Amino acid sequence: MQIQQNISLKQFNTFGIDVNARYFSAFKNEDELRELTSAYAQMPILVLGGGSNLLFTKDYEGIVLKNEMKGITLVKEDAHYVYVKVGAGENWHQFVQYCLQRNWQGVENLSLIPGNVGASPMQNIGAYGVEIKDVFEELEAYLINDNCVRVFSVNDCAFGYRESIFKTKLKGQAIILNVTFRLNKIPKYNVSYGAIEEELSQMGAKELTAKSISLAVMNIRSSRLPNPLRLGNAGSFFKNPSIPFEKYDELKKLNPSMPGYKNENGSVKLAAGWLIEQCGWKGFRKGDAGCYAQQALVLVNYGSASGKEIYDLSEEIVQSVFKKYSILLEREVNIM
Ligand code: EPU
Repeated sequence: MQIQQNISLKQFNTFGIDVNARYFSAFKNEDELRELTSAYAQMPILVLGGGSNLLFTKDYEGIVLKNEMKGITLVKEDAHYVYVKVGAGENWHQFVQYCLQRNWQGVENLSLIPGNVGASPMQNIGAYGVEIKDVFEELEAYLINDNCVRVFSVNDCAFGYRESIFKTKLKGQAIILNVTFRLNKIPKYNVSYGAIEEELSQMGAKELTAKSISLAVMNIRSSRLPNPLRLGNAGSFFKNPSIPFEKYDELKKLNPSMPGYKNENGSVKLAAGWLIEQCGWKGFRKGDAGCYAQQALVLVNYGSASGKEIYDLSEEIVQSVFKKYSILLEREVNIM
């Protein structure tokens, strides 16, 4: 394993922020990981997957470890499901493609999400009516403090909306090694998210298949979300906030066009993109930091914005939404 010093992380984060890591190395298996974590036990450790959900605001004064654990293995199969174990370092969208080619269903709605498989349970990635928890069987993670590997079931992960135990109680503690997914052999599609059905009919799709759903999702995503290879970004920068029904009711009377989706517990989830747009930020640009013109929930780096500039813009947005609606937006992206 090669250990590099003071290297730029620009190519390792989809925002394209140019900061340095004091030390940098990659690991391909558990032994290499154990060696690195014990050799650098004294300093902060940051494990990187695709770098698609973080914003660096300063140099990283520790060791950055790039997870390059690969491999996709069919571990079990029954009449309804296949159980597929995937190395954390596999690219998420390539894994989705792999499933489509084999007619394994369940992840088609999650097509084109940037990042690696290991990051998917961290924030319970979700899109177009499906979340990772819906197809999750178990994962293996290395616990740094305990120096052991532990298996986590769906309950152990405490999944919530863009949440898991790995972002809360075990933050910075658990390094995900692989994830096992439970995928359908028998078609069971989810097209509940309005835009999918609309897109499918526009595409003239005659048959509902995992492949046609995947294509529809890819079309919708590419028309609304910037490709990080062309424009630095980390997807939705904020979470969609939930508020009590009574407060929603009041706001809705004043703002009849405000979207809201009822949660199971009776609260209402609002569209942060809508709130931000109403405050006039959509398409705003200051230097190289901006709010994306097609989707206000996404902040972008037009080239050489610093992480601090993007963060400062996000703070201005938080404050203006709070001033207008008394709703405090929470960041989805990890700020480093
Ligand atoms: N909206 C606006 N203005 C905007 C953006 C959105 O008014 O600039 C309104 C739309 O009209 C719509 C509503 O907000 O009524 C929802 O918009 P959209 O369907 O684009 O979804 P979203 O709530 O903005 C969430 C996820 C996305 C995911 C999509 C589709 C979060 C934080 N974001 O976005 O996830 O792809 O739904 O399921 O939950 C991500 O997490 O990085 C991400 C991209």
